[in-house]
Amino acid sequence: INLLTTILKLFLNYLLFKLKSDLYLQDGSFGRAAVPSGASTGSKEALELRDHDSRYKGKGVLKAVANVNQIVAQEVVGKSYQTQAEFDAFAKAIAASANKELFESCGNKIKKLPRPMMNIINGGVHADNALDMQEFMIVPVKYKSFAEALRMGTEIFHTLKSIMNKKHLSTSIGDEGGFAPQIGSTDECLKLILNAISEAGYKPGEEVAIALDVAASEFYKDEKYIMSGESKVLNSQEMCSFYEDLITRYPIISIEDPMSEFDYEGWKLITQKLGNKIQIVGDDIFVTNPAILEKGIKDGIANAILIKPNQIGTLSETLDTIYLAQKNNYNTIISHRSGETEDTTIAHLAVAVNSGQIKTGSLSRTDRVCKYNELLRIEEKLDAAKGTIGYITSFLAVR
Ligand code: PGA
Ligand code: ZN
Repeated sequence: INLLTTILKLFLNYLLFKLKSDLYLQDGSFGRAAVPSGASTGSKEALELRDHDSRYKGKGVLKAVANVNQIVAQEVVGKSYQTQAEFDAFAKAIAASANKELFESCGNKIKKLPRPMMNIINGGVHADNALDMQEFMIVPVKYKSFAEALRMGTEIFHTLKSIMNKKHLSTSIGDEGGFAPQIGSTDECLKLILNAISEAGYKPGEEVAIALDVAASEFYKDEKYIMSGESKVLNSQEMCSFYEDLITRYPIISIEDPMSEFDYEGWKLITQKLGNKIQIVGDDIFVTNPAILEKGIKDGIANAILIKPNQIGTLSETLDTIYLAQKNNYNTIISHRSGETEDTTIAHLAVAVNSGQIKTGSLSRTDRVCKYNELLRIEEKLDAAKGTIGYITSFLAVR
């Protein structure tokens, strides 16, 4: 590792929604990362540099490619680095050089598989339906291994498909691979999920719970929450009561972005009212930013944080935010984005920092399934290291 010199070849390939870069070290080690993109972004996220010209409907990234090949390359090519903290983009190459995987080479000492939150019905800006809320997730709460939790999710997802088929609901999918039926009612959606959990042979609440990502910033206007699918216009207090009613009727253990990022008082209110009953997750409100999280902790906002590395822009800052959250007993959920790639870095990150939870979509679409498959491989490797390997990994296929 001492002699590592970045030779550099940073290749940035442009894809319509994502940016990918490759980095080579002098010893031949290699790291590659691709960055996803969101549809329901927080206003304080790191800049996503696009060309805004005629190519790719303005989404091209030639400016970013030029920045890396000219400005960044000049800074780093030929220099020596020892650790990822010295040069962030180095993380994967340095792991490869040490003959390790990313989850082994960075993060905490304790490495554990995260609990998956699987998004099986998509709404909001992730689907062309009338559902106000963006994500309806199932969360196994009783299971022996990550592989088993994943099997439970897959069985429920496919049971849901049969139920929807019988009801003549469309089983086409949304951005994160969950179904996107033409319904607008939150209740109808939650009932479908409850039925799927039971019909698949699991006990709702006891074995499998429900989590929501409301992404409420998307329908907040003039200090009101305009829920058109629900035919309701609510203020912050009424939103709180709406959630309170939902959690008494359904086994909901977690709600993400229940309030808009522009409704700070609403966030305080919901944390006071429901923070001791369920997990309240800040995504758009914190944007993985340690300074914003620090203020949120002081102000009593939420009790968990969604972690999306590209919201803050570097791995080092992402780790700072995770450690700050963990130190203050905030739960951490490592997350994908709605516009994903085949990159599986977040699977490694979740295990590396022992995040406890991961949110990486449904049990369909290769851009989601690849993260789950990587976690199966990691679990197998950790079990093998402990000498407890007891099952053969069966990889998830797209269908
Ligand atoms: P985004 O959605 O990637 O479109 O921002 C994911 C989320 O809100 O959690
Ligand atoms: Zn979110």
